[in-house]
Amino acid sequence: MFGETLEAEVRIVVAPSPVIMNIQLALKNAGLHGSELMYSPLASAEAVLSREDRENGAVVVDIGEQLTHLGIFLHGTLFHSAVIPIGGAHFTRDLEITKHLGGIAASERVKMRFGTVLPSHVPAEESVELEEEGRLVSRREIAEVLQARAAELLNHVLAEMGRTGLMHEIHGGVHLVGGGALLTHLPILAQTLLGRPRVVLGRIQGVAGLPQATGNPFFVNALGAVKALSRDMSEVRGKTDRGDGFLGRFKKLF
Ligand SMILES: Nc1ncnc2c1ncn2[C@@H]1O[C@H](COP(=O)(O)OP(=O)(O)OP(=O)(O)O)[C@@H](O)[C@H]1O
Ligand SMILES: [Mg+2]
Repeated sequence: MFGETLEAEVRIVVAPSPVIMNIQLALKNAGLHGSELMYSPLASAEAVLSREDRENGAVVVDIGEQLTHLGIFLHGTLFHSAVIPIGGAHFTRDLEITKHLGGIAASERVKMRFGTVLPSHVPAEESVELEEEGRLVSRREIAEVLQARAAELLNHVLAEMGRTGLMHEIHGGVHLVGGGALLTHLPILAQTLLGRPRVVLGRIQGVAGLPQATGNPFFVNALGAVKALSRDMSEVRGKTDRGDGFLGRFKKLF
């Protein structure tokens, strides 16, 4: 085949160099020199999306502590990405500000143990006992606070999906990952607000063993990066891994 012009559509991800240098310094100080940095939505996708999902259009929503990273995959590649400045800490802070549960740590515990984003699933009379405070708080009211923040976050996700202009081509579902995705009933609320039939908690694919980690969306990001690195390394080095690089050190942990 002959041609005069070669065109490519590229997506360039930039980050402030001091941030990158700090991460590299932290890795070096931990003895993990020689490792590569990987863009977070790519790491999450590596873990939870099948090749088919990427082809059919899929969304990965990584809800972290302060931020939510969003990656939209289409035709096998990262088509759109965004960072939403809302994470699990915002849900906790909302609870503390509105319900005064005894500090951020206490609110975090209540969120994890009794929180849900579906107030309608909580009987009106159910309450949570705050032992240290010596009082009861309505569990449904807690759910109302969490639902409001979840709706705000999901509306941002929906807006980003809309930006692609290709909503009708996203058939592979929405995968929720990160610690914030563990909030009870979040996939059900997301199904309704995003108008998507398939919203799931992201599960790591193609990693054997470590059942506590592979079944938990909390570890998706880190395991996705390790999985990608392991694939790249085996492609480059064949089967001659000496075991002294990042992967070798990781393997030695288990
Ligand atoms: N069971 C749970 N229910 C609700 N939220 C949870 C649960 N477990 C963890 N979280 C929330 O997950 C968040 C941390 O998630 P994660 O570890 O993915 O963040 P991170 O990757 O460190 O943060 P970032 O991506 O912002 O750098 C915390 O805000 C925590 O409250
Ligand atoms: Mg994270």
